[in-house]
Amino acid sequence: MNRTNNAEMEFAVNHVPPSDDRYLKLMDVENVRSALRFHRSFPEYEVTPLHHLKKMSSYLGLGGLYVKDESYRFGLNAFKVLGGSFAIASHIAKKTGKNVDELPYDVLSSEVFREEMGQTTFYTATDGNHGRGVAWSANKLGQKAVVRMPHGSSETRRANIAKEGAEVTIENLNYDDCVRLAAAQAKADPDGVIIQDTAWRGYTDIPGWIMQGYGTLALEADRQLHANGVERPTHVIVQAGVGSLAGAVVGFFANRYKGDEPVMSVCEAGSAACLYRSAKKGTGQTVKVRGKLDTIMAGLACGEPNIIGWDILRNHARGFAACPDWMSAKGTRMYGVPLAGDPTVISGESGSVTMGFLAAIMMYPRYAEIKEALGLDENSQVLLISTEGNTDPMRFREIVWDGLYGVRHRGEEVVK
Ligand SMILES: Cc1ncc(COP(=O)(O)O)c(C=O)c1O
Repeated sequence: MNRTNNAEMEFAVNHVPPSDDRYLKLMDVENVRSALRFHRSFPEYEVTPLHHLKKMSSYLGLGGLYVKDESYRFGLNAFKVLGGSFAIASHIAKKTGKNVDELPYDVLSSEVFREEMGQTTFYTATDGNHGRGVAWSANKLGQKAVVRMPHGSSETRRANIAKEGAEVTIENLNYDDCVRLAAAQAKADPDGVIIQDTAWRGYTDIPGWIMQGYGTLALEADRQLHANGVERPTHVIVQAGVGSLAGAVVGFFANRYKGDEPVMSVCEAGSAACLYRSAKKGTGQTVKVRGKLDTIMAGLACGEPNIIGWDILRNHARGFAACPDWMSAKGTRMYGVPLAGDPTVISGESGSVTMGFLAAIMMYPRYAEIKEALGLDENSQVLLISTEGNTDPMRFREIVWDGLYGVRHRGEEVVK
């Protein structure tokens, strides 16, 4: 199978009228510091690398290109565990009347605390990464997890969740319907709690904590940029499924550089571009995308926006891109086969789309307007996040070794 394709990317500059921005404070630096303190208490904690792709940044005509590599996170090959673990801790803190700062890993995982708190079953729906993070966290804390996955989920991803002792099934449903299934099952279980990485009306506490948990990677990256002599990123590009991660990252940097925010943009899978479509609609209301949501970007195959994430993004993102699969495959190959002197980054389909997007707008004249709208040039210091490693190793090899989702050239490769 060599699905060379030429589908176009679509881009919307954000003209949505701003809201009262009530959710921005969720991601203020103090809250994110608290999440980072919690993550630091895990024996597995290490700061994930921030790679400087020096050669690639000058090749693309940028001042600096930095990639936060989340394939190193807690040995789980993706960033997602940051959210599930902090939400579980914050939920337990609320239930036991404590402050989350009083519940580091060694307290939460102790026998005494477990007896005091009793048994809980954490339910969730996932494309793979979030469910693995929830199952891993529940396992570490001696609790149970039940995980529902959408049709088409990879067997490797399912097996990785089962390894953490969770009950996990692949359903004949899309992601959003799996969320509804997991929520209903949690409701029917007296010891059940739904730990979902998206918010809807009436369900905001847990997704809010999940977003604060994701903040850890943004705070680490900010500190690493400083250590590299970068005063502030001028541009941040972040990928989105439901938009929890994007809302978290954009919200963090909007707080951190209040009054002088970086130019921040969002990349989605074209077939599931609910935030792009919401931006395009332009009223502030969200748009849902239904159906199979077919894309190689499994982590981004979500058709219903997180209402908190959307609210932050409508106020602070400059633009939204609906990206074809070739863009993510191109990003995976560019990371995996770097220019001489640059480090290799192992980045899966959902991790690499922002690299493919950045490369395409810097290299292809047909996207010159987008490059201009974002003000990308040789002074730009760009931050990307590779949110996962090769979480589907077979697919990763097909992309890098076999050229799956190649780009048909139009003879317009590089602008320089
Ligand atoms: C690897 C990866 N990147 C990005 C995302 C997008 O995160 P969100 O759904 O919060 O937008 C996901 C979601 O599962 C993911 O697994």
